Amino acid sequence: MSFRNLWRSSNFLKWASRHLSYNSGGNEFIPFDGLVSARRCEARRSLLVEVAAMGSALDLYQVCSEFGTIRQMFHYKTKATSGPREMILIEFADSLFLEKVLKGAVYPTQNSSIIPVHSPLVWLAASKKSKPTNHTLHSGTADLPVPFTSEEKNNDVELLQNLFHCSDISQQIQTLYDYQKLTELGWRLRFFTCRQIERALSGLFPQASVLPFGSSVNTFGRRNCDLDMILELTDDDEKTDNNRLVFQAKKSRAAANPRITMQRHMEVISDVVDNFIPGCSQVRKILGARVPIIKYYQDFTGIECDLSMTNKSGFYMSEMLYIYGCMDPRVRPLVFTIRCWAKDRHVTSVFAGRWITNFSLTLLVLFYLMRTSPPVIPPLQVLINLAGSSDRRETSGIDCTFLRDLNIVTPSENQDSLETLLRGFFEFFSNFNFKERGFSIVSGNDFVKPEHKALYIQNPLERELNVSRNVTFEELDRLNTEVSNARYLLEGLEPYTGESQSEPWGILHLCNSSAHPIALKAGNISIDWKEFFTRDELSGSVPSKKKSVTVNTTV
Ligand code: GTP
Ligand code: MG
Repeated sequence: MSFRNLWRSSNFLKWASRHLSYNSGGNEFIPFDGLVSARRCEARRSLLVEVAAMGSALDLYQVCSEFGTIRQMFHYKTKATSGPREMILIEFADSLFLEKVLKGAVYPTQNSSIIPVHSPLVWLAASKKSKPTNHTLHSGTADLPVPFTSEEKNNDVELLQNLFHCSDISQQIQTLYDYQKLTELGWRLRFFTCRQIERALSGLFPQASVLPFGSSVNTFGRRNCDLDMILELTDDDEKTDNNRLVFQAKKSRAAANPRITMQRHMEVISDVVDNFIPGCSQVRKILGARVPIIKYYQDFTGIECDLSMTNKSGFYMSEMLYIYGCMDPRVRPLVFTIRCWAKDRHVTSVFAGRWITNFSLTLLVLFYLMRTSPPVIPPLQVLINLAGSSDRRETSGIDCTFLRDLNIVTPSENQDSLETLLRGFFEFFSNFNFKERGFSIVSGNDFVKPEHKALYIQNPLERELNVSRNVTFEELDRLNTEVSNARYLLEGLEPYTGESQSEPWGILHLCNSSAHPIALKAGNISIDWKEFFTRDELSGSVPSKKKSVTVNTTV
């Protein structure tokens, strides 16, 4: 029975309870709530230390282990505004150990212009007692008694080579995903970045929480994706009923207009972030936007941050995307490849504007996966119907209730390969009548557009809203053209023969400039990608059309 018919069926719940096996491709399903709270606890136990070099790891271990047990250490290099830095993230076994470290840490005495701020970010000064030996400087990681990982930046040449040598397009799609998905360190640094703000504000706002959302947690984020954060100053779950001692507190000055109140609070928070919080640079306030945000760059974690103070619907939206990503092992690789194609063709941009966003594009992919035969994933209404009392969530009057435990959803009967699904996506949308029809991932259906906007994608949580109302008719035309081009490009590909390829093939035709434009040495073939690459991220301008690719084959 298809998911759609199933949902209409009155026996749906009975059917669901019979299917108690959930297959997420061999991986155990971790509920989003559990994942977020485990990562937040990890961040509460973590210290970020600037070091001279990776070789300082043993020295650092010896200094820190005096305060408590260390679980793991991660090394990476980052590009701060003031130059490159080497960092080590330490996870202690208990948050109490971190507190002990911070109590023992000191502020620089020579520099009178520094503002002494309490933060889990420190640097390891050179030892005054003895000069470090060669041993600690050069082979400091070999003798570490805890797991130590050093993460290199993306090696795009390696990715290109791997894509080049895949055996088919499905394998290429999977390889692209495996290579570009957020790493363990990426997850940790994102939660750590949230924790830094939360901690900095905690003296004044003891209930403050900073939660990550968007591509950092919905599992559709690339390694270098930005970090969207929601700051909430009050904790709705905090119980005060039985206590007769109640804090004195000020009333919000502009309580009658919550938006103005939020903007005023964000002005203050933005000044705090800009003036006092270590590593927060390039702070900009964008408070007039539909969703007001504070943008900044965290120098020590190397992450672009967007901090907002609106309702939690973005967080629940991320949870919904996370659940869809867990539901079938093909969802994430497919979304990654299509996001990659869209970036490459400048269908999307890192700048907000009149084009489709990655979020809307992800809904496009989910909708398509609901319309395959048989469907790969069910419409959201199925998950809403299956929700129990523990799944109820509401924020600012928006109902965000849907099934959170995937253990009661049966795997899809659809056996299509990733390649078939990729081709199917472009075919489906090159035939979709965007001019007249909109669609909903709640019902899994399309319908006549209720408003005169180029693109209509129903907001799955606030159903009266269109998440793609920013898209202009001109941009929709470009999207349509690129979708048709991709379809014909894939249709025109020679079937893979298994012989060594001498030219880019498969998804390298769709997503090839997503990797860095350096010469690729694939066996004895040298491909020059330089000509192909124009980065709108660097120029900061509206995306321009790309030059054509130059392939030099030197055999
Ligand atoms: P990239 O940042 O481009 O990698 O993707 P992203 O998924 O993080 O998208 P973006 O930063 O634009 O948005 C962050 C998150 O906000 C999305 O993942 C959604 O969860 C949520 N979001 C985006 N647009 C809307 C919207 O119109 N309404 C609501 N409620 N949430 C939205
Ligand atoms: Mg984002």
